[in-house]
Amino acid sequence: MTGSESEGLQLRRAVCPGSFDPITNGHLDIIARAARLYDVVHVAVMINASKQGLFTVEERMELIRRVTGEYGNVEVESHHGLLVDFCKEREIPAIVKGLRAVSDFDYELQMAQMNNGLSGVETLFVPTNPTYSFLSSSLVKEVAAWGGDVSHLLPAPVHEALVERLAERRKA
Ligand code: PNS
Repeated sequence: MTGSESEGLQLRRAVCPGSFDPITNGHLDIIARAARLYDVVHVAVMINASKQGLFTVEERMELIRRVTGEYGNVEVESHHGLLVDFCKEREIPAIVKGLRAVSDFDYELQMAQMNNGLSGVETLFVPTNPTYSFLSSSLVKEVAAWGGDVSHLLPAPVHEALVERLAERRKA
């Protein structure tokens, strides 16, 4: 418990969930904006056992910690299971999600309504910065795998890690 919580002041918490394989500038923009709105932002790397990632969950978390460290109010964790259970365990009332385009809306609305119905947790949608409206981790990985320049779409340490990982994969 922090000083302000022991004094009866409830910290305002939110979660930014995702696969983050790896974190992009688009994700980082949403996390940074959430970190300005809430006292504590939990970044939840959700484990999907049926999806083989390019980075392990630990590597993803480490990259997120490196690029969000400067905000001072971001906690990075992983979770295997329902997002609503992650929220319940930490008393988090709000999920913050970026909406890139109308095409995101349908599925995001379904998840928001399902999560609200399951536990009452609210989802707040933040419109993505237009610079990143086409950006996704999968697209970045595909372009980089074919030698395209994605350095402007990723934080520098993440870009470095991606180039290194793809080179290892090519050698293997
Ligand atoms: O980065 P992604 O892969 O688009 O993120 C999707 C994610 C991980 C946020 C979503 O699939 C999720 O919340 N998974 C956790 C399991 C869960 O709670 N499923 C029910 C959603 S209504």
